[in-house]
Amino acid sequence: MKGIILAGGTGSRLYPLTQVASKQLQPVYDKPMVYYPLTVLIASGVREFCLVSTPHDLPRFRQLLGDGTQWGISIEYREQAKPEGIAQAFLIAESFIGQDPVTLILGDNIFFGGDAFPRAFAEFKSGATIFAYHVTDPRRYGVVEFDAEGKAVSLEEKPAQPRSNYAVPGVYLYDNDVVRIAREMEPSPRGELEITDVNKEYLRRGALRVQRLSRGTAWLDAGTSSSLHDASAYVQTIEKRQGMKLGCPEEAALYRGFLSLDQFEMLISGMPACEYRDYLAGLAAEVCRVGIKSA
Ligand code: G1P
Repeated sequence: MKGIILAGGTGSRLYPLTQVASKQLQPVYDKPMVYYPLTVLIASGVREFCLVSTPHDLPRFRQLLGDGTQWGISIEYREQAKPEGIAQAFLIAESFIGQDPVTLILGDNIFFGGDAFPRAFAEFKSGATIFAYHVTDPRRYGVVEFDAEGKAVSLEEKPAQPRSNYAVPGVYLYDNDVVRIAREMEPSPRGELEITDVNKEYLRRGALRVQRLSRGTAWLDAGTSSSLHDASAYVQTIEKRQGMKLGCPEEAALYRGFLSLDQFEMLISGMPACEYRDYLAGLAAEVCRVGIKSA
């Protein structure tokens, strides 16, 4: 499964923070926002990535993430010249996707808890898999409606009158048909190739699986100054309590076997003295003692 990280947009709601660095590069507590979705995909076994961003921001992502070899993965970069929709990423990254299935994750979506994603990736065979998450205000999102049997029956993008409280978070798994579907789509009234239209097409074909994320899963928004602050506070609370980090690509790569312990230790040795390095060194010592326990 190939992985696309979409980190576009102007981040206007975070102005003036976003004048020099895009939204997905802003810190969420102790690391850049994009580390969190990247880690979700690494922990789910994705190894080949394409990051799509604006021409203005792409050089900074490259500077931050490099070609991925340090984490035992590969990362390519492609430009989205204008914000013309999430589904446009499948056209921009068409040559990267090739004949493979592909997952897309939004660079500003932060998840924590549960094993829904690794399980969904392991079980994925064809069609599309998307997720549903209960929220207070679904009008800001794609919304999915279920029938009495729990089957998805409708999807709407930012409806004024939502038919349920289930929002669709920004993680999507597709078979290779998604490229053809995106190619044949028309832009919406707001001038975008809508991801919800892609999902509707899979629903129409009877090939859409919608998996509800349990209440034990956190899905955080970090698109405004206030929600960015809340997300940081959340991450800090969990990390302080557990002594385990969220959104740490090095750790996920080690647990997934993308990095050997030797490679992991080499990587740490190149880092400056800091709390992040101390954390990774602690992990290496633990793995030496008890082996790899969890992902
Ligand atoms: C986008 C999608 C929407 C989805 C949301 C998740 O919204 O269009 O369907 O629920 O991401 O974050 P946007 O980022 O355009 O507000």
